[in-house]
Amino acid sequence: MEKRTLFSEKPVNIGIESNCDNYIMAIESSCDETACAIVKNGREVIANIVASQIKTHEKFGGVIPEIAAREHLDAINVVVQEAFDVSGLKPENITAFAGTVGPGLVGCLLVGLNAAKTLALVHDKPFIGVNHLNAHLCANYIDTELKPPFMALLVSGGHTQIIDVESYSKQTILGETIDDAVGEAYDKVARLIGLPYPGGPRLDKLAQIGNPHAFELPQAKVDGYNFSFSGLKTAVLRLVKSFDGQEMPVNDICASFQECVSKTLVKKLRHALEERGYKQVVIAGGVAANSEIRKKVFALENEGYKVFAPAMKYCTDNASMVASCAYFNTNTFDDVDVEVFSRVS
Ligand code: KG4
Ligand code: ZN
Repeated sequence: MEKRTLFSEKPVNIGIESNCDNYIMAIESSCDETACAIVKNGREVIANIVASQIKTHEKFGGVIPEIAAREHLDAINVVVQEAFDVSGLKPENITAFAGTVGPGLVGCLLVGLNAAKTLALVHDKPFIGVNHLNAHLCANYIDTELKPPFMALLVSGGHTQIIDVESYSKQTILGETIDDAVGEAYDKVARLIGLPYPGGPRLDKLAQIGNPHAFELPQAKVDGYNFSFSGLKTAVLRLVKSFDGQEMPVNDICASFQECVSKTLVKKLRHALEERGYKQVVIAGGVAANSEIRKKVFALENEGYKVFAPAMKYCTDNASMVASCAYFNTNTFDDVDVEVFSRVS
């Protein structure tokens, strides 16, 4: 696709139809990771720098947006410089600069997006604004030869969606959560049972040593490809209260919760695959790092499907997926005046 440099308005070919190598530098700062990456032709990671704020937010039990935004300000120049240093590339070697536009925390997004715009302006390169959710899906193009069409299960802290990916740029959301996102449910249940932030990965660890059949938890009945996890969260709350101060079988509760979530997700994903007749399936988003969800989705290979999942470091927020998205997906925001947005409307 032809894009333009910001000052001299020179045409630059970017994406799968480009006739030269593309090196895209991307910045991601939508939540609590300040990240900068350089990716060659959408699939080959040259640098992947992530500054995590977990230590800061741990003491509050969750992300405090104002503090997160300030930490992004402290980290942004450092991660950009490190990406240049690690890659050995200079700004003139970069084909375009990309940044996450939304959804995410507005104050946080502003830092990364303005950095990406500034780099593009100063070095007279094209600017590419990327949707964070599309970027999560594109993490599956890294180090693989995956090509659409495929079915995607996107599970993150803020979203739970089944997406029909017909082509690099044409995607249809078939269903999504009507209340809590999977990651949100993990974090809330983790807090209920007293695990520190970030709860999801910690709950996953305990679940692996518990009995998944210890407690029968309810799978919400929701129409079509939509999901609901708030009832499950309440059921866990009731279960926790039933121990009334006695020692709780924490590992078994975690394992039973994880079993219920992973079963629900994979059941609907399988239906979607059968209905569309696709043979390829991908998972994406922070919760795609979950051991049981990965296991159950990869078990679809026994039914003849080809399964893709990003490497762990590309599941949670990172900038390589943003660079990959800037390369493959043409539904981007290329106007340098684009504003950040917190939610998909
Ligand atoms: O995609 P992500 O980094 O941020 C958003 O875009 O939301 O996802 C973060 C979410 C958090 O809710 C975190 O608890 C969850 O992903 N998560 C996990 C695991 N690793 C991260 N949830 C369950 N099991 C995991 N192993
Ligand atoms: Zn994310």
